[in-house]
Amino acid sequence: MNKQQPIGVIDSGVGGLTVLRRLQELMPHEHFIFLGDTLNTPYGNRSREDIIRLVNQMTDYLSYRNIKALVAACNTITVLGEETIRNGHDFEVIGMAKGSKMIPRVTKTGRIGIMATDFTISTGAHKKEIQAAHPEYQVFGVGCPRLVPLIEHEQFGTAELKDAIKEYTDILKSHDVDTVMLSCTHYPFLKKEIEAAMGPAVTVLDPAEVTAKKCRYDLCERDLLCKTGTGTTEICFTTDLERGLRLASLMVDLSACRAHVVGLERQDPAQKVG
Ligand code: DGL
Repeated sequence: MNKQQPIGVIDSGVGGLTVLRRLQELMPHEHFIFLGDTLNTPYGNRSREDIIRLVNQMTDYLSYRNIKALVAACNTITVLGEETIRNGHDFEVIGMAKGSKMIPRVTKTGRIGIMATDFTISTGAHKKEIQAAHPEYQVFGVGCPRLVPLIEHEQFGTAELKDAIKEYTDILKSHDVDTVMLSCTHYPFLKKEIEAAMGPAVTVLDPAEVTAKKCRYDLCERDLLCKTGTGTTEICFTTDLERGLRLASLMVDLSACRAHVVGLERQDPAQKVG
């Protein structure tokens, strides 16, 4: 492994771009390859086996691109666990922060809401980690299956999106939470709308920055952090580059990015780059 190798960043679609922007801010000298599987999004209503099959395709591609680390910029992927995500490859995997360190800084009542995909909520991973650190907290998970397709299809400001946000935030309000974790990387596209729906007494947390710090710390520890030179970003989607880039433009500076569509058919390990 060496410092000049890229960092892979994966998501089921455009959600991981909300993490990519924090990674770029924090590590401006790094080379990033973002891969969003827009062909197969959403992952959050699929079976575990199906999600693993799709993630393996992405990690095989990024291994072929010779990455030094992988950021699972997706909670639905993160909850599979690092070993499953790594699938025998040699790079470190950094998953999304689940909130156990962020929440104590803001909650007063210890009543916490988790907004995530149905798959993420079904694993209970966030609730378990938060309650392991703070058994006194009450944690309420809400699966929000309508949100990712609406974001991927750019339905911002529509009546359907407003209705979906109301449906999920009403559930959290009924539990009287004072803190909400956005535990799906797509949801920061809707942070303002979710904050408005929850009201001023509730803090809405996006774990992207903490996750980016975790990644920087990990690279520093292994002496793999790039400290000089101009960083680069390559954005890859598995379909519909134009739509992907319209959404990406809401999160990152595209003038500094190279973008293209990739096919995730099996990569030949003998052809590994670098
Ligand atoms: N962005 C994703 C997450 O953080 C996954 C959304 C989906 O594909 O359902 O969970």
